[in-house]
Amino acid sequence: MGNKETGAEPHGWVVNRGSGGEVQAAVGPLPDSPGSQSVCIDVEAAGFNYKDALACEAHPGVVRKLPLVPGIDVAGRLRSSCGDYAAGTAVVATGNGLGETMSGGFATEVWAPPAAILKRPPNLSAVAAMAMGTAGLSAILAVERLQSVINWDYQARMQGDERLPWLITGASGGVGMLAVAATALAGFQVIACTRKNSLSNTLLSLGASAVQSPEEALPADKKPLSSARYLGVIDTVGGELLANILRVVAAGGAVASIGNAGGVAIPTTVYPFILRGITLAGIDAAGLPSREKRQALWAKLAVLWPLMNSAFPVRHIGFQQIGAWAAEMRSGRIKGRAVVIPQEEVRSEHAHD
Ligand SMILES: NC(=O)c1ccc[n+]([C@@H]2O[C@H](COP(=O)([O-])OP(=O)(O)OC[C@H]3O[C@@H](n4cnc5c(N)ncnc54)[C@H](OP(=O)(O)O)[C@@H]3O)[C@@H](O)[C@H]2O)c1
Repeated sequence: MGNKETGAEPHGWVVNRGSGGEVQAAVGPLPDSPGSQSVCIDVEAAGFNYKDALACEAHPGVVRKLPLVPGIDVAGRLRSSCGDYAAGTAVVATGNGLGETMSGGFATEVWAPPAAILKRPPNLSAVAAMAMGTAGLSAILAVERLQSVINWDYQARMQGDERLPWLITGASGGVGMLAVAATALAGFQVIACTRKNSLSNTLLSLGASAVQSPEEALPADKKPLSSARYLGVIDTVGGELLANILRVVAAGGAVASIGNAGGVAIPTTVYPFILRGITLAGIDAAGLPSREKRQALWAKLAVLWPLMNSAFPVRHIGFQQIGAWAAEMRSGRIKGRAVVIPQEEVRSEHAHD
């Protein structure tokens, strides 16, 4: 079924494996036949998450079937009614198997399960919604979770009145930047940790009170516990960096583990847990339990966006640029977010670079 307005056949960025096992990715016809319960969204924009970068190389941790169109987040218009929503309603859909078990947002149309679909907040354009998407949902979730698991009484007993800041790692990435803005909005002092000092001004504009490299943000010693530096941490990197961070979290403090851009193994000890009572809290935005919870998080993103919009680097890309952006993302070289726009096949622009 093609797009009624343009008459064009549905197409997207299709990832597959050749007979020799090599990854093949190119613009082509959509590979899935729509599920009987699915609802069609004419795509206006799709977010570009780290998971999508992995899907573009057919990473088995993300891709559950091939061929597949990546894209776990999508914004567009309903082609027909869905529950209370009339045809033409501006919607967003995130997770629920999109871009993993079924084809996702890097396409002109997406067939999504009704459970994934929510009305887009009125003050968010499709591009704004997709500049945040799952990255934004996870950033807000992490801030909420840390506020609820930090042991404030224990913290006050052990640290007195000392108010330590929160640390955000991988701060040049989508989740990192959104976490900086969301943490500052919640009223906490934020140290943004990034390997890219060229982004300092952007991160300060988003609400960071200081920007530091991993070497500056963490002590050089290798002791199992080092002097307390942070009350809360939102970590998108994982691996050695996360292990190092656990050593400097204050008594009663907490770390939200969101990502693994830097590794999956955490070589740590039990000391931060049994001698400082810290909490390591996992964040799983894709597994969010209810539509109501997602709706509430989108309402918070709608409040956050006008406060960060002018400082947040968002790049518009077309299908042809997906492969290159995915490779940059996997190597940790990107800054900010890309949004895939079906109509943007030739033109590439920096909206706020
Ligand atoms: N748990 C959830 O619900 C959830 C939701 C969304 C995303 N995630 C995860 O969160 C992580 C970040 O996602 P994102 O969309 O923000 O990705 P992104 O935009 O690509 O940002 C990742 C950032 O990690 C940092 N990094 C540090 N070491 C790295 C390395 N060895 N390789 C690559 N990057 C490295 C880089 O920042 P600096 O150069 O500034 O250090 C990079 O910009 C990913 O692991 C993603 O899967 C989880």
